[in-house]
Amino acid sequence: MKATAKAHTNIALIKYWGKRNEELILPTNNSLSITLDGFHTITNVSFKEELTNDVFYLNDSFVQGEQADRVTKFLNLVRDLAGRYVFAEVKSVNAVPTAAGFASSASGFAALAAASTKAVGLNLSDEQLSRLTRQGSGSACRSIYGGFAEWQKGEKEDGSDSFAVPVVAKDHWDIRVAAVVLSSKMKKVSSRAGMKRTVETSPFFKGWVESIPADLQSIKEGILERDFTKVGEIAEANCLKMHATTLGASPPFTYWLDTTVTVMQTVKQLRDSGIPAYFTIDAGPNVKVLYLPEYEVQIKQALQSIQGVADVKLSRVGQGITYLGDED
Ligand code: PMV
Repeated sequence: MKATAKAHTNIALIKYWGKRNEELILPTNNSLSITLDGFHTITNVSFKEELTNDVFYLNDSFVQGEQADRVTKFLNLVRDLAGRYVFAEVKSVNAVPTAAGFASSASGFAALAAASTKAVGLNLSDEQLSRLTRQGSGSACRSIYGGFAEWQKGEKEDGSDSFAVPVVAKDHWDIRVAAVVLSSKMKKVSSRAGMKRTVETSPFFKGWVESIPADLQSIKEGILERDFTKVGEIAEANCLKMHATTLGASPPFTYWLDTTVTVMQTVKQLRDSGIPAYFTIDAGPNVKVLYLPEYEVQIKQALQSIQGVADVKLSRVGQGITYLGDED
């Protein structure tokens, strides 16, 4: 009744931005991401008859409140699926520095889903696991796979056809991602709240949704052809469109800081000087830069020398879920 799983976080090149069903976490558009080897979560789940409630430890600290409630809510889905009503001890270790601006929820819920289903005795396919993971955190459903993955929004209102599928495996293309960590901290609008406000109030939201199918088709061609310019241009434009929807919301908001814009301009200057690089930004101020291995030294140096940049963390394409064999 115990198992351990490791999952990596992912960065979306075509963003998930907007829900059509908040409870089931059903998106308004397909999204596509790269799984990253630089950032992961390892989670151990033990179902124990003697427990009277779930207990959750994150990086060796006992966690209560909203974060623990989300874990229990997810475990309830797993218990319902298995028909076994036993509480669990969950121990997670995050190697996703919160400051790196990656949603640790992606690797966190993917690892939790994999470990808990294995521990309870369910033997799920990747598709079933991705569908379940989606209900913990939307973007996490893509972290089941290594390489590039696409979350298909599905059409059905029960969510049965909303899950991620692999696009190409990790070894297809050695593309790299630099996570540019900014020193300034600001009060963040959560992705959940940001999406909700955008869907409900931004007149740009309709245009965003309508633009997705063409972006998705072109970027998949670019990935298959390993066409860095094509993939980079689409990813950057897709990110800018997502962020434009927030400026049209009521009240308007943005995730960007002044340094965010400075990093974006540096990426553009790198391109103008012959070094191919493109940026993408999630629901926060930090910037992720796509580049090719042969330019790693120049990319790191240029990004590190920007005033207001605290750190630059480099990552390769990562693998999907792995189990770290301690099951009974
Ligand atoms: O799954 P969430 O709630 O962490 O939302 C993620 C939303 C973005 O990171 C902005 C885009 C994405 O597709 O990952």
